[in-house]
Amino acid sequence: MTGEPFAAVDVIRTKRDGGRLTGEQIDWVVDAYTRGVVAEEQMAALAMAIFLRGMDQDETARWTGAMIDSGERLSLRTARPTVDKHSTGGVGDKITLVLAPLVATCGAAVPQLSGRGLGHTGGTLDKLEAIPGWRAELSAAEIGRQLDEVGAVVCAATPTLAPADRLLYALRDVTATVESVPLIASSIMSKKIAEGSRALVLDVKAGSGAFMKTRERARELARALVDIGTAHGVSTTALITDMNVPLGSAVGNAVEVAEAVAVLRGGGPPDVVELTLALAREMLASAGLSGVDPAPVLASGQAYETWCRMIRAQGGDPEAPLPRPAHVHVVPARATGVVTGLDAYSVGVAAWRLGAGRARKEDPVQAGAGIRCLAKPGEFVEADQPLFELHTDTPAAVPTALEALNGAYTVTTTGTRDERATAEELDGIVLETIRP
Ligand code: URA
Repeated sequence: MTGEPFAAVDVIRTKRDGGRLTGEQIDWVVDAYTRGVVAEEQMAALAMAIFLRGMDQDETARWTGAMIDSGERLSLRTARPTVDKHSTGGVGDKITLVLAPLVATCGAAVPQLSGRGLGHTGGTLDKLEAIPGWRAELSAAEIGRQLDEVGAVVCAATPTLAPADRLLYALRDVTATVESVPLIASSIMSKKIAEGSRALVLDVKAGSGAFMKTRERARELARALVDIGTAHGVSTTALITDMNVPLGSAVGNAVEVAEAVAVLRGGGPPDVVELTLALAREMLASAGLSGVDPAPVLASGQAYETWCRMIRAQGGDPEAPLPRPAHVHVVPARATGVVTGLDAYSVGVAAWRLGAGRARKEDPVQAGAGIRCLAKPGEFVEADQPLFELHTDTPAAVPTALEALNGAYTVTTTGTRDERATAEELDGIVLETIRP
């Protein structure tokens, strides 16, 4: 007798044979895995069975609940309505840096517990750590205080938040079981629900630079995320947004902070502004503040004041010069014409190779590393005009970054300045909205 109500092998067999797991089986297996009673190889087998057989909506919601219950829930006590946003990750995605202070300026409280980047997609904390003095680790009490005083917090998840997910994610990473919709959805939502926000807006990216390469897969993930949030009483909406082209011009750490600051001061690239406002409108509506229009707030630069307070509250100096790279390499356009393609994945990989991202969780990143894309699709370029600036402290990385950029952009040589308008009329960034 083990004293355990189930045997892991029976749970694995049920899912292997295409059966449904009961709520009790799910609660037990997640808890027993966190306690070390279910062995790594057993959870690996179960994750593969789920990968191959799937989980239905009820199983996925219950699995999420079990992962939340493996740790603590933050209880955010603030007079303002709380609302958070989560992005499934993309290239040049600095939206949180603008959105959190903007939505706070409009009257909501935004508790955003974020992660570091892995692979070609950047991490919000890595970007913010480019700011001299800024610290990511806050206690639950500090998060609560800052939410009350500033209205926005972007910081690292506390280790007690959904610890089962931390273990399971590391296991999935090495057992080829990451790309499963129920496992991804429960992983994301367990952390977001445990964070204690009453409303959540998800930015589910679709395209070459995203986790989900096609719109259909992105829609499937968005639906699963919204269903989990709804089952757990969190008002949840998802926008499916384009990630075939990097967002804005800057990809990396300090370069993205500088671009976010430009948007906060009322300028910046139009695609970053468009997506920030679309997400802000959804967040404000979910928080019961649909009467507030974020567009004039952003254009006026008021959100920049909130940004400065948010950065200072975490030890950072928002006015300090950002780190600069030791080396800048310019890539010229090969031909004259209209830029008709700029592949997000290739640019993300190139920035990562320059030192902006990491290959393993424990690797450091270079604050000054990244890429500036000097022409976006729809723009006319002359041959030899600078197209990319590569920033790095390690010039030896430049050849491998150039390899990644080889074929990353297309210039249509028959293009004229008049074709610019046509290319710019491509779909907007927001492709569709998924509601409960
Ligand atoms: N992000 C997560 O937090 N979990 C996943 O499984 C995938 C992406």
